[in-house]
Amino acid sequence: MQNYYLTDNLDLDKPDPIILGIESSCDETAAAVIRGRKILSDEIASSATVQAQFGGVVPEIASRAHTDAIAQVVDNAVKNAGITYADIDAIAVTYGAGLLGALLVGVSFAKALAFSLKKPLIAVNHIRGHLAAAYLDAPQLKPPFVTLLASGGHTAILHTKSESEFEILGATLDDAAGEAFDKVARVLGLPYPGGPHIERCAKEGEANVPMPKMLKGLGGYNFSYSGLKTAVINYCHTKTQKGEEYSKADVAASFQSAAVDILVEKTVEAALEKGVSTVTAGGGVAANGYLRAGLEKACKKAGLQLVLPERRYCTDNAAMIASEGLVQYRLGNFAEMTLTAKASIPLAATLETVQSRRAADKGSK
Ligand code: KG4
Ligand code: ZN
Repeated sequence: MQNYYLTDNLDLDKPDPIILGIESSCDETAAAVIRGRKILSDEIASSATVQAQFGGVVPEIASRAHTDAIAQVVDNAVKNAGITYADIDAIAVTYGAGLLGALLVGVSFAKALAFSLKKPLIAVNHIRGHLAAAYLDAPQLKPPFVTLLASGGHTAILHTKSESEFEILGATLDDAAGEAFDKVARVLGLPYPGGPHIERCAKEGEANVPMPKMLKGLGGYNFSYSGLKTAVINYCHTKTQKGEEYSKADVAASFQSAAVDILVEKTVEAALEKGVSTVTAGGGVAANGYLRAGLEKACKKAGLQLVLPERRYCTDNAAMIASEGLVQYRLGNFAEMTLTAKASIPLAATLETVQSRRAADKGSK
């Protein structure tokens, strides 16, 4: 079924269209409204505290929590933005990647809302959302730039050539950085999600526990986190078996610096090699204070401009989905009403150049 609300007079060049973003790919039910790149509202209901009792995300609990929360979260986002539903120009929703049952709640809700309001629907890839977070409240930001993407599922360095065209310069060969943070946190007895807890714990310690240097040895802009994770696990287990005490804070600080320093180093190296003048970052790990400070220092030294999304727009949120929605809106890339959720989308496929309706239209004229 076609998205028949795409009227002929839909103005893709409208200055500052109002986009409602909806996100439900994991344990956060989120909705946000943006006008152009300006954030008007940003609502999040999280089942993370419930999930923490299980040491990770239980998909069924997440889906149920989304179902309970979504109508209210969306309504709050619209009201707190100071707009009415009629003012919305398009509804952008995360359709993948993520937990299928969780995604379906957001996708079904967005489709029903688009249908009832007669508004165009935009399908947003979650990872593209993380990349587009840098545009929020940053009207001056324009590609080309180099982007560090570091989340729970991905770690990569990208050359962002235009808002819709990316080249992957390197990526993790095994675990994602966020995944390593979560696994190390578990070994240290810290709650899920581990990243913020490791960051807090590391502040009390010194980076004096030897960590493997293997990260440095990898060619190009690739990463590997499984060796680092295993080294931490082995260190803790050996100490425990010998009945020796060890400082969790020192382990956290040592792991954090090994995991993060390499991200900073390679991102700046890539920016210099590509000859861009700006660096951005996105994904949950980009909320890490040690990483943010490291990027700031290294970019300053290299004469690069750094544009970092606020911490809350690095972890999962709906403003970033609306931000990518705006990119797709400008391209005239709207979804059909047959849109469904996708549990996985490979990074390379995620970042292909969008074949825009606008470009296709031009080609046929
Ligand atoms: O981007 P995100 O919210 O969800 C995914 O799309 O994966 O990233 C979640 C990941 C988790 O692994 C979490 O531990 C990590 O980001 N994270 C952090 C911090 N905040 C979240 N890692 C390090 N330091 C943080 N402050
Ligand atoms: Zn995410």
